[in-house]
Amino acid sequence: MKNFYITTAIDYANGSPHLGHAYEKVLTDVIARYKRLCGENVRFLTGLDEHGQKVQQSARKAGIEPIAFCDAQAEKFRELCRLLNISNDDYIRTTQERHKKVVRQLLQKLFDKGEIYKAQYKGFYSARQEQFLLEKDKNEDGTWPEIFGEVVEITESNYFFKIGKYQEWLVKYISSHEDFIFPRFRAKQVLEFLKEPLNDLCISRPKERLEWGIPLPFDENYVTYVWFDALVNYISAIGYGEPDFEKNWPANFHVIGKDILVPPHAVYWPIMLKALGIEIPQSLLVHGWWLSSGEKMSKSLGNIVNPLDLISQFGTDPFRYFLMREMNVGQDSDFSADQFLTRYTSDLGNDLGNLVSRTLNMSHRYCEGVVKAQQIDEEPEQTLRNLWGQTADAAMQMYEGMQFHTALETAFNFIRAINRYAEQRAPWKLAKSEDPQDKLRLETSLACMAEGLRLAAVLLAPIMPQVSEKILNLLGQKSAEKFEGNLAWGQSLLGAKLAPQEILFPRLQK
Ligand code: MSP
Repeated sequence: MKNFYITTAIDYANGSPHLGHAYEKVLTDVIARYKRLCGENVRFLTGLDEHGQKVQQSARKAGIEPIAFCDAQAEKFRELCRLLNISNDDYIRTTQERHKKVVRQLLQKLFDKGEIYKAQYKGFYSARQEQFLLEKDKNEDGTWPEIFGEVVEITESNYFFKIGKYQEWLVKYISSHEDFIFPRFRAKQVLEFLKEPLNDLCISRPKERLEWGIPLPFDENYVTYVWFDALVNYISAIGYGEPDFEKNWPANFHVIGKDILVPPHAVYWPIMLKALGIEIPQSLLVHGWWLSSGEKMSKSLGNIVNPLDLISQFGTDPFRYFLMREMNVGQDSDFSADQFLTRYTSDLGNDLGNLVSRTLNMSHRYCEGVVKAQQIDEEPEQTLRNLWGQTADAAMQMYEGMQFHTALETAFNFIRAINRYAEQRAPWKLAKSEDPQDKLRLETSLACMAEGLRLAAVLLAPIMPQVSEKILNLLGQKSAEKFEGNLAWGQSLLGAKLAPQEILFPRLQK
């Protein structure tokens, strides 16, 4: 059986991890965990993009070798993965031999096929973006946009990859493969870009300008253009050319931000693969940006939200919950600390946390801490059980369609419904009654609350794996490995011994 292979973009080594990086990893992790729970074999890759001018400059500034600089950065980014509880199977660094070897192999292959040629190039170059610019990149008043930094005119010989000849093929491919770009509206942007003739891609940088890169196998005076280098990570990490390659390739999803769709992932990458005779990945999952007061977070604007602060203050799962609850995959979302606190206090603290503690607390007070049989089946039980049926169906469909924010909304509607059920049944009143039927109602109500909680915990496992496991453990259960067999309302908790009361989401000061 082929693995479900999913990747994130590999982060630039020259910056520090921020909310955007954290989001992409969590989003990809949620999909990976969801697929594992659905019974798929998952291969999940993330990593670091280490070559290029900016890294060379940062290392020089710090007075150390580029590789020493990258080692330290890799440690920081991997620490972020650990703190976010990311379940990646592998971490690729573009300075690793396994990667460099494949990049050189592919370049040689394209060169031998006549897909790469040398030519003189005269043009405007942005060192900050490490790219050549065209007239159309200018502002209306003829100046260069701020993002390019200093722009200089240069003449040099370079190697070019004949991507222009694949333009027609690519347009047809994107138009006929509805699943290739998700959400679909992003495909329009790509097709719009492809209305202009595609220039061949300059894939080399002369060594005198840039040393920190992978030397071209056919001309050691040049290093490889960073995007050509970086994109190859998706196949170098799974052993391109080795027998097991096809166990993972083609990738099911490359998860990327909207800024790196056009041209790298939607134009360069499929053309590179096509020219090499390698299958095209199934889907690019393109997410939006986290904004800070309406603007993209960036070093120069000084509006970066540091995920580490939020994780240390609120914990990993509340952070993951917030990211998935607030962002509609594909759209942008504005980060707000107030909104974070509101979600934490009301959804997690008041709705979920409160349900956990009252279920445990009352079960110990009235039922010796043991789950009794559901013996009564009256209107309140039926309503709750029916709602669960609808919740499970809807939420699973939403997971499948990457609608994590609505999946959570649906799950939390159910959690609130269990709390309402508790109010309606009022076990504290039933406990005072002499009527033997009320004793059965009391036991049933606590058993139903525990069962509802178990089901909600299983459903939340992809997004809040630790909270899910914790709740299941409190209910005397192991963590959920698979959805199958665990999502149906039943009496599997009968006789389970519950842990004492526990506060899952302690109150915090603003
Ligand atoms: N190194 C390239 C990717 C190479 S993939 C072969 C790169 N690195 S990055 O560090 O700048 O960005 C890594 C990912 O984070 C990208 O998918 C990017 O879209 C995403 N984000 C960076 N800032 C972001 C936000 N503010 N919000 C959400 N994600 C954004 O690009």
